[in-house]
Amino acid sequence: MADSSVTSPAFPGASGHAGHDAGKRDFLKLVTAAGAAIGVGAIAWPLIDSMNPSADVLALSSVEVDLTPVVEGQGITVVWRGKPIFVRHRTPAEIKEAQDVKMSDLIEPQPDSARVKAGHDQWIVLIGICTHLGCIPLGNKPTDPRGEWGGWFCPCHGSQYDTSGRVRHGPAPLNLNVPPYAFMSDTRVKIG
Ligand code: FES
Repeated sequence: MADSSVTSPAFPGASGHAGHDAGKRDFLKLVTAAGAAIGVGAIAWPLIDSMNPSADVLALSSVEVDLTPVVEGQGITVVWRGKPIFVRHRTPAEIKEAQDVKMSDLIEPQPDSARVKAGHDQWIVLIGICTHLGCIPLGNKPTDPRGEWGGWFCPCHGSQYDTSGRVRHGPAPLNLNVPPYAFMSDTRVKIG
């Protein structure tokens, strides 16, 4: 799913002087918005991290998540062992996109079936840490940019992930990692 507001700022009406100025203003707005997004991404993790319990408590912990309120197309972030975990309820179109991609198009080839649980492929569960330098990608909230492949977009240096959490545009070198998890029922998942 393309998100032209993030990946390719345009200069509408750039042929005339007034149009050019309007285009420049639009571009500046986009740059400002991008800067704000980077700021939020950069500060969010240390704040969350500082609220976490001590390391020995974290080492033992697992987290159970009730999936009932997470509607199709929506994602949530939970914290497990000090890491943000993305849990997204994929739409049928998002599942099909993830399944139909050619392995030769992938930076780190991995079929969608290897990244989800059989019988629960509407759910994707990922460690939400960019494999480039560790920022938290955007894409769980409906208002977030999700990048050209409809998954997650890392505002730090522009990496993009698809609806299976596989990297489709660098500089990130690897797919988002999948944590250990298991379904306790159709609406309850245990992470860790
Ligand atoms: S940390 Fe995500 S692109 Fe650099």
